[in-house]
Amino acid sequence: MTVAVRSFAKINLGLYIGAARADGYHHLRTVYQTIALHDVIRVSIERNSGRGSGIEILCTNKDPRVPLDSSNTCYRIAERVLDELGAQGRVRIEIEKRLPVQGGLGAASSNAVATMFALELALRKTRALKKKLSPAARLRIAAEVGSDLPLFLVGGTALGVGRGEEVYPLVDLPSLPVVVVTPGIGVSTPKAFADWDALMKDGPCVDGASPRPGGAEPRLHTTTRQLTRPRASDRLLEAGCALSAWLSGSPSIIGSPNTGAPARGGSRAGNLLLDLVRTGIENDFEKVVFPQYPELRDIKGALERAGSRYASLSGSGSTLYGLFRSPADAAKAASRLRKQGLKAVATSTLTRQQYWKKSLVVGR
Ligand code: C5P
Repeated sequence: MTVAVRSFAKINLGLYIGAARADGYHHLRTVYQTIALHDVIRVSIERNSGRGSGIEILCTNKDPRVPLDSSNTCYRIAERVLDELGAQGRVRIEIEKRLPVQGGLGAASSNAVATMFALELALRKTRALKKKLSPAARLRIAAEVGSDLPLFLVGGTALGVGRGEEVYPLVDLPSLPVVVVTPGIGVSTPKAFADWDALMKDGPCVDGASPRPGGAEPRLHTTTRQLTRPRASDRLLEAGCALSAWLSGSPSIIGSPNTGAPARGGSRAGNLLLDLVRTGIENDFEKVVFPQYPELRDIKGALERAGSRYASLSGSGSTLYGLFRSPADAAKAASRLRKQGLKAVATSTLTRQQYWKKSLVVGR
């Protein structure tokens, strides 16, 4: 019995990093948005085969960054699901990899949540068990495996707080055209967080001058820096202002005044995204990832030049995306970017309803 499930990607519409927490994670605020690009997860379970229990991971691409052992997110979640349900058997998990590895699209997290769904379905189909995981148990297990997993239990547009694992469904943005560029660079998320901490500690002075090597600075200058340097918690305050302005329908903090009326040619729903963008959302990871990989900054520029209404790094990267006015504009931009040698694809965001409708592809 094999169950196949689509494992969709996400992008981050703004990401603000706060202070490091005692548990080593960082406080953050982000708006997650599911998109139509996906991997496929196939789970099969053999019971009473005489071959005992165990979990086997296979992956269609032979990328060494996808572990095939117990450190794989799919393995870790399958182990917990079996344990929670008191189920046994030989579980085979096949990852049909299409999404970039370490790409900031949440692929490993999404793969794990898809494994949880597929495994539960497979167990039910083999009549191995009648009970289901409760929604609370799914959420707890997902959050144990990683900060980005719970969002895939919600789908659509969702607010992420805490270390990212606390998710709240937001008013769903309509399906919007997106161009996704995957530069083939792997960015380590823990390293990007550590680089952010270093930037906060030794950040540029208010006058833009970099700290001197060895920290040799006049005493007065140091004091000024300490008074003017943004603190990690400031980012969360800024995020809170931008997001609450957006959610309360008065989003024009930075952009033009919002009358509350839909802009010409657009519905209120259609303008929600524009409103969010107008609040001046940013992805803090750009500040540490772009200096290390200047080509990623160039790709963001290329997306802007190709006509995107908003372009950004997703998560800690290396994927960049641009939001477009129409599918035709997105298709044209993707083709233009491909001509420039970039791996660009036109797709769309997925509403919550689309996410749930399309996730389950029961079959092979
Ligand atoms: O939760 P997840 O396993 O995806 O996180 C991977 C790593 O990213 C963590 O071990 C931590 O170093 C870093 N992280 C963080 N703050 C977060 C989320 C992740 O520092 N909010």
